Amino acid sequence: MKILTVVGTRPQFIKAAAVSRAIAQHNQNHSNPIQEILLHTGQHYDKNMSDVFFQEMQISDPNYHLGIGGGTHGAMTGQMLEKIEQVLLEEKPDVVLVYGDTNSTLAGALAAAKLQIPVAHVEAGLRSFNMKMPEEVNRILTDQISQWLFCPTATAVKNLENEGLQHRAHVQLCQVGDVMYDAVLFYQKIAQPTPKTASLIEQLSNRFYLATVHRAENTDNPVRLNSIMSALEEISQTTPIILPLHPRTQKLLETRAFPDIKLVEPVGYFDMITLLSHCQGVFTDSGGLQKEAYFFDKPCITLREETEWIELVEQGFNQLVGAERKRIVEAEKGIVNDYTSSQANQSSQHLYGYGDAAKTIINILLGKSE
Ligand code: UD1
Ligand code: UDP
Repeated sequence: MKILTVVGTRPQFIKAAAVSRAIAQHNQNHSNPIQEILLHTGQHYDKNMSDVFFQEMQISDPNYHLGIGGGTHGAMTGQMLEKIEQVLLEEKPDVVLVYGDTNSTLAGALAAAKLQIPVAHVEAGLRSFNMKMPEEVNRILTDQISQWLFCPTATAVKNLENEGLQHRAHVQLCQVGDVMYDAVLFYQKIAQPTPKTASLIEQLSNRFYLATVHRAENTDNPVRLNSIMSALEEISQTTPIILPLHPRTQKLLETRAFPDIKLVEPVGYFDMITLLSHCQGVFTDSGGLQKEAYFFDKPCITLREETEWIELVEQGFNQLVGAERKRIVEAEKGIVNDYTSSQANQSSQHLYGYGDAAKTIINILLGKSE
């Protein structure tokens, strides 16, 4: 079997690392090896948004690097579509594997579907029900043209069933767990922080919150962005906040100073795992980080109005507060005391599977039983 994997952004490198490891393990133990061709669209291109993940997670160099990053959504997606099609015509894979909900995801799925190459979508079925998000458009369209819908959660399965996708001929809809959980379980055993991050944690005596902000709905709206930043500034007067700044947010904040927030460049996955394991809580609008906060048993305050990871909110691990300064500051006051530990709460166990999502995905693609 020949699989062509399309990646382009930071969270996709992390997800693909877990699946590539499962492919390598399969190849070690079986006489029918899977050939994986890795295509990097170039959507994320700074060293600390791309190369660092390939190095730390020992992901093979991409077979194809399209160098398409920046620009408008239409231009980016269109250029990717054209170039991915050329690669698919040359490589003729049996399956195209795409992850999540970025422009790279949609371009990969669409290029394959137009050539009638089956698409496998990892992280299928997530919905925010907010069509203003570019990610919601990308994920709905990708699910519509995928043959394998690999859902991370029961909620994701339900969403797709509500759209009737389980009745479609040749479509396989399966709950497999979350490959990000696989990644955390594996890499936390070997993650070593950089000296810079280790010394920052030491300097703060393990007393800090971790924050990230990068969603278009927050960064592209100056009112929301100002409100979030002033809330974080206020909170950091009493508990320091480390905020690795996404280049999108960096560009929009330009030279504005936030003297009390520890603003740092985007960090690698190993630093992130270390920060997560030492922090007292997380403020974020990231999808991946909401789950990682739960994996590390840290309370999470989500700077959005809705989330695709609704089970975390329902079970009290995550609080949705939007971008209003007052709500964020208020939420921080109860962050530690009001939190129910995910380790103590038995009903929360295995919301994201058992750490074998990648292996399950490979087995299903090979036609083995789940
Ligand atoms: C993208 C995804 C988003 C995902 C995020 C993960 C889409 C529509 N959005 O958002 O779902 O949560 O990745 O981080 O696909 N930039 C750099 N250097 C880089 C990467 C980006 O300077 O290495 C700049 C770009 O030039 C652009 C801005 O950041 O101006 C936004 O990048 P883009 O890839 O369009 O979207 P993200 O916000 O990263
Ligand atoms: N991440 C990282 N360094 C950072 C910020 C995030 O390694 O500076 C990791 C984070 O731990 C998670 C993933 O990147 O595994 C999430 O990516 P991001 O927030 O960019 O995208 P989203 O999940 O919102 O699509």
